[in-house]
Order: sequence, then structure tokens, then C-alpha cells
Amino acid sequence: MEVERVQALSSLGLMELPEKFIRPVNERPESSKAVEGVTVPVVSLSQPQEVVVKEVSVAAAEWGFFLITDHGIPAALIQRLKEVGEMFFMLPQQEKESNANDPTVGKFEGYGTKMTKNHEEKLEWIDYFFHVMHPLSKVHHEFWPQNPPSYREVTEEYNKEMLRITDVVLQLLSEGLGLEEGKGLKSSLGEEEIELEMKINMYPPCPQPELALGVEAHTDMSAITILVPNEVAGLQVSKDNQWVAVDYLPNALFIHIGDQIEVLSNGKYKSVLHRSLVNKEKTRMSWAVFCVPPHETMIGPIPKLVGDHNLPKFSTKTYAEYRHRKFNKLPQ
Ligand code: OGA
Ligand code: NI
Repeated sequence: MEVERVQALSSLGLMELPEKFIRPVNERPESSKAVEGVTVPVVSLSQPQEVVVKEVSVAAAEWGFFLITDHGIPAALIQRLKEVGEMFFMLPQQEKESNANDPTVGKFEGYGTKMTKNHEEKLEWIDYFFHVMHPLSKVHHEFWPQNPPSYREVTEEYNKEMLRITDVVLQLLSEGLGLEEGKGLKSSLGEEEIELEMKINMYPPCPQPELALGVEAHTDMSAITILVPNEVAGLQVSKDNQWVAVDYLPNALFIHIGDQIEVLSNGKYKSVLHRSLVNKEKTRMSWAVFCVPPHETMIGPIPKLVGDHNLPKFSTKTYAEYRHRKFNKLPQ
């Protein structure tokens, strides 16, 4: 299937943004500016455990978003992850196309560009690469970039760190909910191994960034999302109905609480509404790791967290069902 890539469009050096990317007025960055003087929470993992639990649970409840530092992932590994991703997107167009996905036939993994479902929907200024990273039984290495050749080794090493950080974050969030050892969020996310998905987001320079969005406002359907961006800022998170710009902090992990943790915690932790803006001169990139439950896991409010004075706010269903509804914009 022939798809117009945003990166190829960007390289034409257009002066005006094509109409299909122009957002409705209320969504445009120029008419929904971020507030000034507000910054997102940053939590250092080098503090005493009880301080970290407190800071993480307050941030998850009030923002659904926070940065973590002192997480122990070598800066050099994050650097290599970025390099192999950048190298893939620098390949000739034809070579990238050999990795193309095709969501219209259910092939979600690979190189992609979002297409509109109907004439009302506007396009996002982004190309991406998406693939399953863990567990091995669900990984298709043939869908991963074959070039650069070190892509696989670097990504597998990063995967190990993501598994460790997922455990750390889920444990902190569980302690913040007062859940007992062994009965925490991780056990509620299923008996089988949690799944990790890698999405490399690539936002090329945009002729009129004030009229466009890289990713429109959304919440992630994951349990949590662990993202590292390049140095070009652009992510915004919604707090109390206002957009807050997230500054770049080298080597910090950007943690998003996703829909599944909001449901399990019965709304105590918020799934953060977020969007990304694009840049006139610079290419923005980000590496998002979505931690999702095994697809047949039933997800609903944890029984211990509901009671007569705290009724369940969400229905219980499999993650697969949740995903199907979200993709098709059906009510949950
Ligand atoms: C996403 C996302 C934001 C960013 O991929 O779900 O929200 O900063 N990305 O690129
Ligand atoms: Ni997102």
C-alpha cells in the first residue's frame, strides 16, 4: 500500500502546512498555549524508599506523570538507543519501506504513518516504528529494523533495563496504594509476563508548527509508559485542564500512568492526558516503551481498593477488549 510519509513531505521544504494536517482552532498550539511557571514532578530514586513512595504516589495521583532520575540506566545505553533509532530513520526511503506495517490488514508492527479514518479527522505530523520487545514468545525479530545491524543488540539491552524499571515503578505505585507484598499491581497485571512494546516517534521539521500536532491529545492505554525524548522539547501534559510543557532533562525517564493503572487503582492514579508539538527547524524524536498486560488478563478495580464509600468507577474487562474499544472509539 502506498503511504505518504511525513518525513518525505517535510524534506520537500514546503512553506505552508498541507490542509490535512491543520488542526481545528481549539486544538492548535497557538490557541491552547501551555501555562508558564508550572513544572512537572521530578523524582530521584536515590532518596530513601519511603520518600520515593510518597513522591511517586502523589505525582501519580495528581498528575499521572513524572520524571525519574538516578534510575541506574547507563547514559551511554540511552545514547546508543537513540543513535540506532536515528540511523534507521536516516536510511533511504526505499529501505525503510521494506519494513512498512499495514494496520489495514492487522499488521501493526513495523514502520508506519497514521492515516485518517474519515474526512473529518486530521493527520498527525509523525512517522513511527513500532514493535513488540518482550516477552520473546511474542517477538517477531523479522519486523524489527535490520539496519543498523546493532539495532537488535542495543534494543535487547535496553529491554532488560525496562523490565527492571517496570518492576521498580509498579512496586512504588503498589506501596502508595497500601497493597500487600505479593498482591500488588504487578500480580493484577496477569500471571504471564508483562508485554513491552517499543514505539520510536519521529517528528520531522514542520513548516507551520503552530497549526499542527505531532500526536493529538490522548491517554495511553498501557499500564505505564516509559519514554525518553531527544533534546527537542515538545511533550505537554494536561494538569487541571491546562497544558504544561515538559522540559528536556537529560537521561531522565518520562513516566506516564496509562489507562490500566487508572482502572486498577479505581481512579486514585490518573491516566495522564498528553500531546506533542512539533518544531519548525528541528526533528523531534522520542522512544516510548508501553508496558501492557497480557491480552487476556481481566483488568478492573482491585477489590481491596473498593468498598461502600468507594464504589467501582470502571468496568472489568480483558485488556484485549479494552484495546479493541479504544481503537474503535467505542465507550468503555
Ligand atoms: C505516544 C506519545 C509523546 C512524545 O507515543 O504515545 O504520547 O513525547 N508520545 O513523543
Ligand atoms: Ni502517549
